[in-house]
Parts: sequence; structure tokens; C-alpha cells
Amino acid sequence: MKKIIITGGCGFIGSYLVHSALKRKFRVLNIDKISYASRNLNIKHKNYTLVKADLINTKKLEKIFNKFKPDFIINCAAESHVDRSIDNPDIFFQSNLLGTLNLLNETIKIKKKIRFLQVSTDEVFGSLKFNKMKFNENSNYKPNSPYSASKASADHLVRAYGETFGLNYVITNCSNNFGPFQYPEKLIPVVIKNLINKSKIPIYGNGKNIRDWIYVQDHVDAIFKCLLNGKKNNTYLIGSDNELSNIELVKIICKRYKKITNDNFNYLKLISYIKDRQGHDLRYAINAKKIKNQLGWKPKNKFQISLDKTIKFYIDNRNFIKKFYTRDTWLKKKYA
Ligand code: DAU
Repeated sequence: MKKIIITGGCGFIGSYLVHSALKRKFRVLNIDKISYASRNLNIKHKNYTLVKADLINTKKLEKIFNKFKPDFIINCAAESHVDRSIDNPDIFFQSNLLGTLNLLNETIKIKKKIRFLQVSTDEVFGSLKFNKMKFNENSNYKPNSPYSASKASADHLVRAYGETFGLNYVITNCSNNFGPFQYPEKLIPVVIKNLINKSKIPIYGNGKNIRDWIYVQDHVDAIFKCLLNGKKNNTYLIGSDNELSNIELVKIICKRYKKITNDNFNYLKLISYIKDRQGHDLRYAINAKKIKNQLGWKPKNKFQISLDKTIKFYIDNRNFIKKFYTRDTWLKKKYA
């Protein structure tokens, strides 16, 4: 049985990775520091272990690695929210860069062939203009926020460990994820929460910024394709060809919410344009030809069906949002 370490497995994308790894019959060790965005996965499975540890803690990491000796590592632990990185950049470099450094150092110490997959973001490539260009594997790194700069630095570090120490790695850069259990600081759950509460929907700037949305399970399936079949020391970009401006997306969510709740309320009147995000990237879009052509991956989930599923999840699990809004002061201050 192959052994895999997944870091950040109690986070949004990480939790889907953990479930997929168990389905794929891996023995899974989830290392999570249990941060503001972590949730209790409640997994009782003979092949699953959760260890509460911060990747900053090298002593603890060393112990974990010496005992578990993984065959695969997926590094998904990260501070991920751009607005928080503007308010408090330091923690992003601690977790995303220093955390990755510590993980890499433990990986190369183990005398065993290990494949290391770095889960990264399209934000490392900066911002596209409103034209037909998309990011691809040859795009230059040009991060614009403290968050994306921390992720870009970590990608460079992984690559450097490949060159210098012979690390067997794959880097994946994905576009905007959505789905059930996403932390209610990101656009889609913020909008759904405000529809449920009939409160104002905050749109930064003029709402014309474009993001390329992918359902989280499609992202996770792509990660496993890259982990198991990706070429050594290669990068793969992951996306669903699903570009929408923020205002287009918000209007679609309002329409779907109205249909699902069968309500006559005019939800569109909740839309409220507010002060723009500092350094707000204009557009992200992914050209996913490499992973499609070389590894045979393609997204399986249709956007509207996945969005409906997500909306229904938040309607049926109001406590999921409420719990986080009660304990997270940053979130409370920003959106309540
Ligand atoms: O592209 C991948 C990235 O997508 C990931 O690497 C990041 O971890 C993830 O946070 C996400 O970054 P974004 O900044 O694009 O996601 P967010 O949901 O914060 O914002 C999406 C867009 O919506 C962005 O243009 C900002 C805008 N926005 C966001 C929020 C939370 C609003 O207009 N109002 C809001 O309240």
C-alpha cells in the first residue's frame, strides 16, 4: 500500500484530496496546523491519520517523516486568501514559503524515492488583459499580491530543490476553485451567505474582473493525474475554460438561488459596488492543453450543476457559515 502525506488536509481543497486519496487506497497522513479555515473531517478509517502540526515546526516534521516514510507528498497547506495577505503578509511567507522549505528539507533527507507535488495557483503569473491570451506552462511568473508572491516563491523553491538535490516534483497551478465546504471568505460562499441573509453583496470595483472557475473535485482529479502520471519535474496548469466576470457570476448565483428557493424576492438589488481590492488582478484564464493532451484529464463536472450543488450545500448547512463567522474576527469585521 502506497503512503501519502497530504498537508493542509483539513482545508477546503485538502479535504477533497484526503477523501480521494482514501478512495484510491492510499495510506493517508494528513498534516494540518488546524488554522481558522480548517474543519473537522470526522474520518474514521484504518488508513487515515491526522497529525496536528505546523510546517514551521521542524522537529515535529522530522519525527513524522522518520516514522511515516511517505511515497508521495501533496503540499496543499497554505494561507490562501488574497485580502488577508494584504492585511497581514508575514504569515503568508511563514506558512507558504518557510513551511514548504521545511517540508522539502525533510523530503530530501528520506532515503527513498518520493514524488512531491506542489499545489499552486494561477495567480503566480500575475494578471491578464481583456484579450484572448491565457496562462500556459511557459507564462512568466509575475505575482501581484503578497499571497501570490508567497506561492510563487514556494514554486521556485520546489523547482530549485529539483535542480540542486534531485527532488522528483510536479507543480500544478490551478484557477479559482468552488464547491461545498469552501471557507466563507471567498467570493462564491460570501455571495450565497448574503443571499441567505438578504444582505448586501459586496463587489469590489466595477465587477468586471474575470476569474476562471473550476469545480474543486475536477481540480483534485487533475492533481492525482499529475501525481501519478505527470512527467518528472514538470508543471501542469489546471482549468475548466470557464471565464466569468465577477458581476456575471454574481448575477448567475442570484438567478440560481432564486430558482432553488422558489422565492419572488429581487436578489439583484442586493448587489453593492464597494472599494476595489488593492492591486486587484484584472483577469485569470488557463490554457489546460498540456494536462489534457499529455495526461488525458478533462473536467467532468458541469458548471451549473456544480454551482446548484454548492448553493444547496450552504442553504442546508447554515451552521457551517455561522460557526466560522462566530469564531473568526477578521471575517466578522470584513463581512458581517
Ligand atoms: O486563482 C486561484 C486563486 O483563487 C487561489 O489561488 C486563491 O487561493 C483563491 O483565494 C482565489 O483568489 P481570488 O482572489 O481570485 O478569489 P476570491 O474569491 O477572493 O475573489 C474572486 C474575485 O471576486 C476577485 O476578483 C475579487 C472578487 N471579490 C471577492 C470577494 C471575497 C469581490 O468582488 N467581493 C468579495 O467579497
